[in-house]
Amino acid sequence: MCGIVGYIGNEDARDILLNGLSNLEYRGYDSAGIALVNSEGVHVFKEKGRIDVLRKSVDPAVKSTLGIGHTRWATHGEPSKRNAHPHQSASGRFTIVHNGVIENFSQLKATYVPDVAMKSDTDTEVVVQVIERFVKDGLDVEAALRKTLKLVEGSYAIALLDAENPDMIYVAKNKSPLLIGIGDGFNVVASDATAMIDQTRHYVELLDEEIVELTRDSYTIKDLDGNVRERKPYTVSFDAGDTKKGAYPTYMLKEIDEQPAVIRRLLQKYRGSDGMITVDPAIVKAVADCDRLYIIACGTSYHAGLVGQQLIEKIAGIPTEVHISSEFSYNMPLLSKKPLFFFLSQSGETADSRAVLVKVKKLGYPTLTMTNVEGSTLYREADYKMLLYAGPEIAVASTKAYTAQMAVLAFVAITVAQKKGIKLDFDPVHELSIAAQGMEQMVDDKAQLKKIARDYLSITRNAFYIGRGLDYYVCQEAALKLKEVSYIQAEGFAGGELKHGTIALIEDGTPVLAFATQKNVNNSIRNNVEEVSARGAHTCIISMEGITAQPGDQIVLPKVHKAFTPLVCAIPLQLIAYYAALQNECDVDKPRNLAKSVTVE
Ligand code: M6R
Repeated sequence: MCGIVGYIGNEDARDILLNGLSNLEYRGYDSAGIALVNSEGVHVFKEKGRIDVLRKSVDPAVKSTLGIGHTRWATHGEPSKRNAHPHQSASGRFTIVHNGVIENFSQLKATYVPDVAMKSDTDTEVVVQVIERFVKDGLDVEAALRKTLKLVEGSYAIALLDAENPDMIYVAKNKSPLLIGIGDGFNVVASDATAMIDQTRHYVELLDEEIVELTRDSYTIKDLDGNVRERKPYTVSFDAGDTKKGAYPTYMLKEIDEQPAVIRRLLQKYRGSDGMITVDPAIVKAVADCDRLYIIACGTSYHAGLVGQQLIEKIAGIPTEVHISSEFSYNMPLLSKKPLFFFLSQSGETADSRAVLVKVKKLGYPTLTMTNVEGSTLYREADYKMLLYAGPEIAVASTKAYTAQMAVLAFVAITVAQKKGIKLDFDPVHELSIAAQGMEQMVDDKAQLKKIARDYLSITRNAFYIGRGLDYYVCQEAALKLKEVSYIQAEGFAGGELKHGTIALIEDGTPVLAFATQKNVNNSIRNNVEEVSARGAHTCIISMEGITAQPGDQIVLPKVHKAFTPLVCAIPLQLIAYYAALQNECDVDKPRNLAKSVTVE
């Protein structure tokens, strides 16, 4: 969703801001803008559409070493130049960019600036108008900002310029993500570290309801009462190279290909000196001691959670439920006596998941976040943390974070089983290495998956995935991936459920792709394939060598342990979606209407 950058230093701010916004493109946006400050005042440039359009519209004659920028994902007001950020106060003195939602914007307008004519349809603009009103009333800028933010209900990440003080950027945060980046003789503002990774690897986290006065060589963090808060920077563990496409045509393809390496990296990161899978003993104890584990997640992370539930129940014997965050938040089930909450989130910023975290923390329950982003909101706010070590995931469609989540959930299941004295009938390190090898084999053999996309998905508007057991969860992810990148309407069904309604949708040529990697249900899923085939479906079976494969199956996956079949299934489901998207000429890395970091509820 919306992204913010800011720069105050001695270099040309224009290119730094535009490149920073390009690095934020992956989050999803529909318009963009920058504001540059120099001795002549504040110069605002904004456009609907891509950063390239904005880049062309910025006057190269405007030289500046200070500015702010924004990518907007519309919530209030249509995507347009008029609604793009930055927004300016009535006199033009103050210029703001904002992420989040100002829920009480109409009350603020009616109460504090009823006579000001708004220049946009956004919820944001009222903030800059109210700040100007309080400054006109006699407050200094910092006090006016704090007073305004105390009145705001909702979420915000803000960068503010004052034309009368061209050596300062004011920054503020509540619920929406925002970081300060520290450089040598310059400082930056960024929604996430990838935006400004070309400038610095040193960042300072901001907590909710904090403001910052940022100059070229200092940052002063304060709470909304003006009390100074000290905080040291941390260094991010990836560098600029990790966020680049390199020779790949798209981030999605790069990230799909990286998955075997991610599993191998995880095996190193979660391995003790004895060579065994090792997880923080406090986490293992918390899981072993709880009477029920609640996994809370959205989208692809939810699908990884479904696989995790099976592993944790079957391997470690811990009762586990998986819930969609946005549903759990407003429709909480009866909880067990001693619950533990697991938050799965690639970005660590998903507002729906955070809403649940805040609620269950208030109820006093222990929480754990499993995320790819160290220092993210969910990471910071949970009692326990586990990292996915997948490296920055830039494509909107989650791929390598999904497989990393399933692997890390398996580590939890394995280590809790060991603590409980449950003897495993397999060597997890060995079997996960074999799974990584199997994933590599699939990654190296893309031609067969490209052919499946061409043969089954080139002229269709809909498709079905069917499976049973773990394959059913794989199918749900396969359908989501296909929908989000190729815009083909797709659903993932439990094979046995088809005859209870869905089979009515099958007609001549309807593509039905079955994952069949589970030995105990191999005959049943094949019967389901026969049922749809008899009604005209164009069927494809993806089975597993030496386990379920039969002559004539369209794709045969390399053999892996039954607990890890979803890891190897991930590659074909992702590549089929990828090639279907290319066939449909879709923007694979930035699908329409979607955002990478979903920071509004
Ligand atoms: O960052 P999160 O894992 O919390 O994000 C959850 C979903 O928004 C995300 O998985 C979404 O479904 C992806 N675009 C799927 O590819």
